[in-house]
Amino acid sequence: MAKDSFNVGVIGLGTVGTGVARILLENGESIGRRAGIPIRLLRAADLDIARDRGLDFPEGVLVSDAGTVLDDSEIDVVVEVIGGVSPARTFIETALGNGKHVVTSNKEVVAKHGRGFLELARANGVNLYYEAAVGGGIPIVHALKNCLAANEIEQVFGIMNGTTNYILTKMHEERTEFESVLKEAQDLGYAEADPTADVDGYDVAYKLAILAGIAFNAHFSYEDIYFEGIRKISGEDVRIAEEMGYAIKLLAIGIRREGGVELRVHPAMIDRHHPLAAIEGSFNAVYVKGNYVDETMFYGPGAGALPTASAVVGDIIDLAMSRGLAGSHPSITTGFNDLPVLEMGEIRSQYFLRLRVKDQLGVLAGIGGICRDTKVSLKSVNQHTVSRTEAEIVLVTHTVREVAMQRALAGIRELETVLEVQNLIRVGL
Ligand code: HSE
Repeated sequence: MAKDSFNVGVIGLGTVGTGVARILLENGESIGRRAGIPIRLLRAADLDIARDRGLDFPEGVLVSDAGTVLDDSEIDVVVEVIGGVSPARTFIETALGNGKHVVTSNKEVVAKHGRGFLELARANGVNLYYEAAVGGGIPIVHALKNCLAANEIEQVFGIMNGTTNYILTKMHEERTEFESVLKEAQDLGYAEADPTADVDGYDVAYKLAILAGIAFNAHFSYEDIYFEGIRKISGEDVRIAEEMGYAIKLLAIGIRREGGVELRVHPAMIDRHHPLAAIEGSFNAVYVKGNYVDETMFYGPGAGALPTASAVVGDIIDLAMSRGLAGSHPSITTGFNDLPVLEMGEIRSQYFLRLRVKDQLGVLAGIGGICRDTKVSLKSVNQHTVSRTEAEIVLVTHTVREVAMQRALAGIRELETVLEVQNLIRVGL
């Protein structure tokens, strides 16, 4: 007998989970009409079911035990929105093993265990969707997986973390330092109490591993991705970048090269006229360049309860619409490319280097000699006096190999005249 509803069980009523419940409860009727079948929130599990979430849950929906969701034979799709690896991984594996589809917004668990999940899903005739794991409300996963699948993707890059983009925007607008903006963002609830995943680049590395995997049809471990966060960016870096016509953004970059893929996450100075320079606050933007479509850009809210929940519910609707269609498991590719991640030392970039030096004869000659010996060609050099004995030097290089720049940097650090390497920031992509 055909089922009369597509039943959802949510695990985790935090920010995103509460948003999912709200959308299903508020907009369920319209969503059901679109899907061609009523979509019912059957269970919502959270350890704390007493908290007022401002929602009127129907009788029996709220449960405190995730097992109630995982073992309920009436549930078609389990929505995992608790985040982190443990116990999310076990919940996802149990749900897939029990023949339930899974929708998750959890980039960490997908980046670390997605391959195993997809194999398990295939073995059980179900699917795993994770649109909300990258770019919050921006439909970038589906776009890459389906709409752009005719292309060989050449580049995927952009701003994929709302918290750090918010911090960099504020540092630029208010001429403040990283620590004070971070504290303000935490006080306002925009940044997590433990900001490590966002500000140190882990969150973006997970997202890039997922997105590049889809774009280049391969599996990438986030551990093979070079990543840096934004902690070292100072107000002075932002100010000088502006003077030079650049904005500083935390970029995730995936580029198909001969023999492999460049995957990296780091702050970069980009031309202030580049469209990514205009992405402000917690918004995200992702560029995709395919051989047939050419350049496309996806822009929208990269974080937040309802934008993220809207992507989760979109996945649920997709699953509901494809229910019962033979072989309807579009996210489960069978033939992956075997593409190595290229060594970071092999990339080529321009570099901005800011140094505090002793203001004395021969300082520039020493630095210039090291750059010459390591084959780092300089594009511009600016020096200004800081005190009677100290000066600041800002160098910008031509495009050179990362390995050469790192050798030059090591040599410069050793110079007796160099008091401090204040920052090294890549310029451009
Ligand atoms: N913490 C993420 C961000 C949102 O700030 O973009 C979820 O991916």
